[in-house]
Amino acid sequence: MIKIIFQKSKEVKNYIIPLIKEGYSQNINGKLNKAILNILQSEQFEGGEVKKYSIFNNNRLENIFIVSLPEKVDSNSTFLELGHKVMKHIDKKEIDSIFLSPIEGRNSNSFNKTELFLEGMLFGYYNFDIYKSKRDEKKELIVYMDDRVKLKNYFNTEKIGEINALYKSIFLARDLINMPPNELTPQRFCEIATTELNKNLKIKIFDEFEIKDSGMNLLYTVGKGSENRPRFLVIEYSGDERVNKKYAFVGKGITFDSGGTNLKPTGSIETMKSDMSGAANILALAKVVSESGLKLNATFYIPLAENTIGQTAYRPGDIIKSYSGKTVEILNTDAEGRLILADAISFAVKEKPDIIIDMATLTGACVVALGSDIAGCFSNNDNIYEEVYSFFRENGEHIVRLPLHKNYRERLKSKNADLQNISKKRTEAGAIMGALFLENFVEDTPWIHFDIAGTAFMEDNHPVYGEGGSGFGIRSLYRFLKSKEIM
Ligand code: BES
Ligand code: MG
Ligand code: ZN
Repeated sequence: MIKIIFQKSKEVKNYIIPLIKEGYSQNINGKLNKAILNILQSEQFEGGEVKKYSIFNNNRLENIFIVSLPEKVDSNSTFLELGHKVMKHIDKKEIDSIFLSPIEGRNSNSFNKTELFLEGMLFGYYNFDIYKSKRDEKKELIVYMDDRVKLKNYFNTEKIGEINALYKSIFLARDLINMPPNELTPQRFCEIATTELNKNLKIKIFDEFEIKDSGMNLLYTVGKGSENRPRFLVIEYSGDERVNKKYAFVGKGITFDSGGTNLKPTGSIETMKSDMSGAANILALAKVVSESGLKLNATFYIPLAENTIGQTAYRPGDIIKSYSGKTVEILNTDAEGRLILADAISFAVKEKPDIIIDMATLTGACVVALGSDIAGCFSNNDNIYEEVYSFFRENGEHIVRLPLHKNYRERLKSKNADLQNISKKRTEAGAIMGALFLENFVEDTPWIHFDIAGTAFMEDNHPVYGEGGSGFGIRSLYRFLKSKEIM
C-alpha cells in the first residue's frame, strides 16, 4: 500500500513541497532547487492552496507541487485535505515516484502533520472499481523522503506496518459500503468478514433461527421481510489474557434500507446501500486491532438485516419483545436501525463490558443538523466522551456532542407496550430521539453512540474522504484503543 524510502532517487517525478517558515524543509540540489526557489520568489500563495508546476529536468517532465498551509490551522483535517488534494493531481501511473518534503521543520522530532498528510494521500488514492470490467492496476504508493535520522525514527518499520494495516481495513470498509445491496447481503457480509479476519479472532455467526431462538426478536423482525435473512456476527478479540477490561463495539448493519412498509420516497432511498456503514467500520476496526495485535480485549457485535417491503415484512402497530425483555411498539418501520442495535447492545451488555461504543447511520435528522462533515455523538459518561473526543480531534475527524435530553425520554413511552420506536413529535430532535431509544438498552454501561448518517457515505466529493463510503471514525477509534493497550 504505502512504502517510504529514505533516499534521493532518480525515480522521482513528483515533488511535493509544503511551505513552512524555513521555506521548505529539504535539501534539494541542482536545477530542481533553483526551479523551486524561482517559483517561491515569483509567485504568491494563498493558504490551503496546492499549485502544480511542471519543469523539464533529467530529460523529462517533472512536477512540483507547492502546498501552502493556511495561516491558522483550525483542525488537523487540514493536513488530510491537503494530502488528498495533491493525490488527485498525481497521475495514477506515477504513484511510485513521489518525493515528499516534511511539513515540520528541520529540527522537529515529531512528524504527525506529515503523517496526516500521507493519510490524506491514501484516502485520495482509494477508488472503487470492483465492478468495472477494466480495473485500475493497484500499485504501491512509494514515497521518497530525505534520510535525516529523526524522520527515519518517526516513520519506522513498525509505524509504516501499522499505517498499512489501518488503511487495508479502511479500504475494506469503504469497499463494503460501496458494494451493491444485491451482492452484499447479511450472509455475504459474514462470509467476507470470515475471509478477511485474522485467524486469531473468535467468530460466531448467528443465523436467522439462532437469532430467533436466542430472543433477539427485534433483529429477527426487522430482517424477516427479506429472503436475505438476518445474521448476527460476533467477533471476539483477546489480545491479552492479563486484563479483564473489555471494550464492546456495535455497528448497524442494514444492508439495504427501503424504509420497509413505511417505504422511503425517491430522493431518500438511492443511497441506502450504505446503511451498513456502522457495521463495515466496526468490522474494519476489528481487523486492524487484531492485525496490529493490540494488547487488550474487545468484542465486536454486528447485527445485519435487510429492511424490505413485502408480505412477510413487519408493520406499524406490531409489538415485539426485545432481547432485553422490554416490549417495543413499532410505529414506523423506517426507524429500524435502533431496533437491531437495541438487541445487539443488550446482547453486549450481558457480557458486562467496561464500555460500549456504537456506530450507526441512524437518523436523517443528524444529516440535517450537522451535514456530511460532522458526526453526532452521544454519551452517558463525560470522562469517556472527553477522552474519545480528543482522539477524533487529533485525527481530524469532526464530531459534535448532542444531549441525551432526559425530558424527551417520555416521548418514547408507548400506550400499548414499554416503548415505541419513534416520537410522535416527528419534526423535533430526531437524532436525539434515536439515541434516547438506544439508551433504554445500555443499562449503566458507559456508552458512546455515533450517529454517522451524514459522514459515512459521501454523495459529493469530500475533501478528505472523496466519494462514496468514507470509513469515518475507524482511524480515531483505532488510535483511542491503541492508547488503551496495557504495557
Ligand atoms: N437509515 C436511515 C437514516 C439515514 C438517513 C441514514 C439518511 C443516512 C442518510 C434510518 O433508518 C431512518 O430511516 N431513519 C428515519 C427515522 C424516523 C422514521 C424516525 C429518518 O431519519 O427519517
Ligand atoms: Mg430507516
Ligand atoms: Zn436505516
